[in-house]
Amino acid sequence: MPVMEIISNSPLETEELGAQLGSLLSAGTFVALHGALGGGKTCFTRGIVASLAPQSAHLVASPTYAIMNSYFGDTPVYHFDLYRLTGDNDVAELGLDDYFHGDGVCVIEWSERLFELLPDDYITVGFEYSGDNQRSITLNASGPISGQTLKRLAALRSC
Ligand SMILES: Nc1ncnc2c1ncn2[C@@H]1O[C@H](COP(=O)(O)OP(=O)(O)OP(=O)(O)O)[C@@H](O)[C@H]1O
Ligand SMILES: [Mg+2]
Repeated sequence: MPVMEIISNSPLETEELGAQLGSLLSAGTFVALHGALGGGKTCFTRGIVASLAPQSAHLVASPTYAIMNSYFGDTPVYHFDLYRLTGDNDVAELGLDDYFHGDGVCVIEWSERLFELLPDDYITVGFEYSGDNQRSITLNASGPISGQTLKRLAALRSC
């Protein structure tokens, strides 16, 4: 499966990468974000929303207290932050997994809290600090549909 590693030198670059990925996503896609506090997960999500529900992009903030925020455009974006959850039972009990195969794109911060609730085919995006304003961002595909999306992202970025 393809792996992409990208260095971002600013929050804007991270948001732009999110927007490029967002432009390639359709309903039913699942994007699992992980990495350190302040790594850029919410910033990247703002970019995805800028592509799919542009009128709402300025509203994107960490939904730590709400667990999930919805942004409605041509394709809805369901933005989850699972930081406060302790296990997949929480997610199942809250019915959050109902969204995973629904009408929108799901973007999940702290996706490691999902354990076996992850779908088969999804994109993983990892964020690591590599300097004050620099982040190393690694994208992985777990299945063929996500793999195609990352190939298209690589092509888009090389234009
Ligand atoms: N290259 C970069 N990409 C993204 N954010 C950056 C970058 N350089 C600096 N930053 C700063 O890092 C912070 C990233 O915050 P953000 O809320 O996106 O992180 P997060 O991964 O969602 O954190 P949390 O785990 O707390 O939800 C912002 O304050 C942003 O300005
Ligand atoms: Mg966040």
